[in-house]
Amino acid sequence: MKPFKVVSNFEVYESVEELPKVIQDLMKEAVSARDNAYAPYSQFKVGAALTLNNAEVITGSNQENASYPSGLCAERTAIYYAGAKYPEVQIQNIAISAKSMKHKVNAPVPPCGACRQALIEYEVKQNSEINVFFMGESGQVMKANSIKDLLPLIFDNSAL
Ligand code: THU
Repeated sequence: MKPFKVVSNFEVYESVEELPKVIQDLMKEAVSARDNAYAPYSQFKVGAALTLNNAEVITGSNQENASYPSGLCAERTAIYYAGAKYPEVQIQNIAISAKSMKHKVNAPVPPCGACRQALIEYEVKQNSEINVFFMGESGQVMKANSIKDLLPLIFDNSAL
């Protein structure tokens, strides 16, 4: 036996204002998409905005369902839309913002495990990293340069 260590790297920005201007604008798109969330069950609204290298911005929000597992997170709504609309175009950045209708969310809200798995598929597909910026309603913003920082030891097509 020998130990095997996995290191993830993140950057922490004190607020949206500290982000580069283009990412501030992308986060604004995520916040505005968040307003379109359909979240009557959780009262937890999430918005996601992606930049593509054709300069398009694709947004998504969580869409819930009375049959709970049939709903979908904001990140997957957005990335599947991007993949469906522009299958050959690379995704550069994703910005995510979450807001609870019940309490103030100040801490950054990272994508759930299922979304990390969905996102890594596209990083592998396009063979280039996707920067992830995530936050709550306000407060700090965290950045990962790659989905791999959020999901080490990925399961991908190399295993199949
Ligand atoms: N949700 C997202 O949209 N993204 C995540 O990464 C975490 C969770 C949604 C799913 C559900 O509609 C609500 O937030 C509460 O889990």
